[in-house]
Amino acid sequence: MNVLITGANGQLGRELQSVLRRGRADIGAVPAVYADATVTAVDADQLDITDAQAVTAFFTKTCPDVVFNCAAYTQVDACEENEADAARVNADGPAHLAAAAARIGAKLVHVSTDYVFDGAACEPYDEDAPTAPATAYGRTKQRGEQAVLAACDRVFVVRTAWLYGTEGHNFVATMRRLGASRDTVTVVDDQTGSPTYTEDLAWTLLALGATEHYGVYHATGAGSCTWCAFARAIMERAGNGCRVLPCTTAEYPSKTPRPAYSVLGHKALAAIGLDRIRPWEDALDAYFARTKNEG
Ligand SMILES: NC(=O)c1ccc[n+]([C@@H]2O[C@H](COP(=O)([O-])OP(=O)(O)OC[C@H]3O[C@@H](n4cnc5c(N)ncnc54)[C@H](OP(=O)(O)O)[C@@H]3O)[C@@H](O)[C@H]2O)c1
Repeated sequence: MNVLITGANGQLGRELQSVLRRGRADIGAVPAVYADATVTAVDADQLDITDAQAVTAFFTKTCPDVVFNCAAYTQVDACEENEADAARVNADGPAHLAAAAARIGAKLVHVSTDYVFDGAACEPYDEDAPTAPATAYGRTKQRGEQAVLAACDRVFVVRTAWLYGTEGHNFVATMRRLGASRDTVTVVDDQTGSPTYTEDLAWTLLALGATEHYGVYHATGAGSCTWCAFARAIMERAGNGCRVLPCTTAEYPSKTPRPAYSVLGHKALAAIGLDRIRPWEDALDAYFARTKNEG
């Protein structure tokens, strides 16, 4: 079994490598099909997914059986200013990966986002709900989804949201840093979503990649909360005494509109018995246990 991970230095790419190395995550063992797998983990300096020729040559050389695409242009505000650059990474790159995978019969597990939806719902989005992105990031990711689904039969599109892990930049790391030096922080309390721990997502991606159940999936932490409630849960577990004050989106405007509601339903994962992702509070406990020496 040859496994290829693109965008391998990002927070999800690193976690996938870690779960593969350990052979298990808290929510389950890595499927046996990956035992003794040869894992090739590359980031943009070794394989720039926007370079179609390089992607083809790399696939010919390494013959992956399963490709996990964790590469993306993820800075939401920067996407707004550089939509063409973002589209190269979030739409054209995945299209190149899908075409190369189709050529050699490899599976492609492609990661996408809640930002493909408009954020105006008040109940969880199903996998087949109409997409209507309100941002450049969401538009480029939507094009990426469409491109991979069109180019490759053996493809899984896995939408996630509010991702955090032990590596890289994310909301939990930011709150821990701020909480260590401030008495109070103010956080929006009118945007709702599902915090998702990279370890739970990584296991789910590996489990999907071991099946033939191709299609569109949602994989986020179980349950939901606002950013303010999430921040409070982080400060409590960090034990730093930092108070979290609520505010509205209108009081704390960002350059790019953030979805008011981005909870994703998990019907597709449940239908194949792979909806194992924990309640977000339990996953946050596990993350703190893993990083307990980091303050
Ligand atoms: N973070 C979230 O909250 C969130 C929410 C929903 C969905 N997602 C999706 O989850 C996936 C993983 O996100 P993440 O948080 O792990 O992202 P991340 O930490 O930003 O990692 C993305 C990785 O892709 C690399 N990359 C950028 N351009 C590339 C290129 N042209 N070729 C190859 N690699 C390239 C980046 O390298 P550089 O750092 O050098 O640019 C980085 O190592 C993405 O598909 C993202 O859209 C994330």
